[in-house]
Amino acid sequence: MNTRVLTGITTTGTPHLGNYVGAIRPAVEASRRDDVDAFYFMADYHALIKSDDAARIERSRLEIAATWLAAGLDPQRVTFYRQSDIPEIPELTWFLTCIASKGMLNRAHAYKAAVDKNAAAGEDADAGITAGLYMYPVLMAADILAFDANQVPVGRDQIQHIEMARDLGQRFNHLHGHEFFVLPEALIEEQVATLPGLDGRKMSKSYDNTIPLFAGGKKQLRETIMRIVTDSRLPGEPKDPDDCALFTIFRAFASEAETAAFRQALLDGIGWGEAKQVLYERIEADVAPMRERYEALMADPAAIEAILQQGAQKARAIAAPKIVALRDVLGLRAMTTAPARTDQPKAAPKQGKVPRFASFRDADGSFRFRLFSAEGEELLLSKPFADPKAAGALQKQLKTLGAAAAVLQIQPLGMSLELDGEAVARTPDYRDGQARDGALAQLRDALDQLAAQE
Ligand code: TRP
Repeated sequence: MNTRVLTGITTTGTPHLGNYVGAIRPAVEASRRDDVDAFYFMADYHALIKSDDAARIERSRLEIAATWLAAGLDPQRVTFYRQSDIPEIPELTWFLTCIASKGMLNRAHAYKAAVDKNAAAGEDADAGITAGLYMYPVLMAADILAFDANQVPVGRDQIQHIEMARDLGQRFNHLHGHEFFVLPEALIEEQVATLPGLDGRKMSKSYDNTIPLFAGGKKQLRETIMRIVTDSRLPGEPKDPDDCALFTIFRAFASEAETAAFRQALLDGIGWGEAKQVLYERIEADVAPMRERYEALMADPAAIEAILQQGAQKARAIAAPKIVALRDVLGLRAMTTAPARTDQPKAAPKQGKVPRFASFRDADGSFRFRLFSAEGEELLLSKPFADPKAAGALQKQLKTLGAAAAVLQIQPLGMSLELDGEAVARTPDYRDGQARDGALAQLRDALDQLAAQE
C-alpha cells in the first residue's frame, strides 16, 4: 500500500529560498516516488488566524500555488488543493473540537507563547488572543485526519500539533469503537538543509533576512545575495567554509564536486564579492527555468484556479464519504433511519474485572501508587507524595475523571497525565510509538471503567 503523505502551507507570505530548499523541493521530490500518495494543500483557513489582510492572503495563495507548480509539482499525480475549498474540514474541526480537552489546547506551544508574552508585558493572560489561535491545532488535526494521512512532513515546531492530531484521532476511534481515523506520524527530514538568511540566522520571514525565490526576478536575487553579511577578510585571505552562510547556501544547490570546488576557492582566499557572484550564478542556474514557468502561471490565474478546483474535487471525493460515516456514528442522521442503541453501557468492565490502584512507599519514604488495568498491566505510576492523604486524594480524582477529561501529554515513548497543568502520574516507557498508542487506548479504557463504577 502507498504511504499517504500530507502537508499544508500557510498562505501568508511569499516563498523564499529557505522555503524552497527546506519544504518545496523535498516535497516535490517525495511526490514523484511510486510508493507515495501525496496531498499538498494551501492552509488558507490557518492564514486567517495570522492575518486579516485580505489582499495579502489572496496574493499569497496565488504566489504559493504558482511556486509549487513551477517547482515541478504535477497536479495529476499530487492532490493539490486549497483548504477553504473543502467544507468537510471545518465540519470535522467541530466534531474534533467537541472531544478535544481544553487542557490539551492550553498546552499548545503557540498559544502558550502568546500567554507568556502577555504575562511578561503585565497584561491579562488572554489579552489579544483569538479563539482561532487557540483552536489552531484542532483545525490542523482535521486537515490531517480527514484524509487518513500516514505521514506529515513538518518542521520541528509542528511536532506537537501532529501528536495532538494523533491524540484526537485516537480519542475519537476509542469513543466510537471503530478505527475511523488513521493515526498520522510527523516526518522530520533530517537531511534537508535549513538555510541561513542574510544575517546568518535561520532564513525566516520573521527575521526579515530572506532571499526571495522568484519575486523581483534575477536582478533582485543577485542584489539580495550581494547583501549577505560576511566578515571583513580581504581577497587573498583564506575563508572558513564551515563558518560561512554563503557556503551553506551554495551546498544546498550544488553537486558534491561543485561544493568541493567552492570550498577550495574559499580556502584559497576568493574575495567575498566574487564568491557571491559564484553563489548567485549557481542558484540562478536552478531557479531560471522555474522562474519562467512561475511567470507564465502568474499571468494565467484562471489556469491555476482550474487546477485547484480539480484538486478540491479529488480531495472531497475522499473526505465527503468519511464525514457521512462520522455524522452517522455521532447521531446526526436522517430521522427515518433506525435509532441508535442506547442500551449498551460504554466500556463495560470485562468479566467483572476492574482496573485497580496499588499504593506503596518509595525507598525515600514518599507515598506513591500505580494504576493497573483489569488485565493486570501497569498503566500509571503517580508522582511521590510526602502525605499519604494527598496520594489518596489523587486516586479519588482519577476514579471519577473519565477518559474524555484526561489531559495526557504524549512523549516519544510514554505519556504523562496532567491535572490543573501539573504532571501527576506517568506511564512506563514503551518500545515505540505504536506500543505507546496501544497503551493510551488501554489507559483510556481503564479511566472510563473507573468512572463508570463511581
Ligand atoms: N501549521 C502548519 C505550519 O505552519 C501548516 C499546516 C496547516 C499544516 N495544516 C497542516 C501542516 C496540516 C501539515 C498538516 O507549518
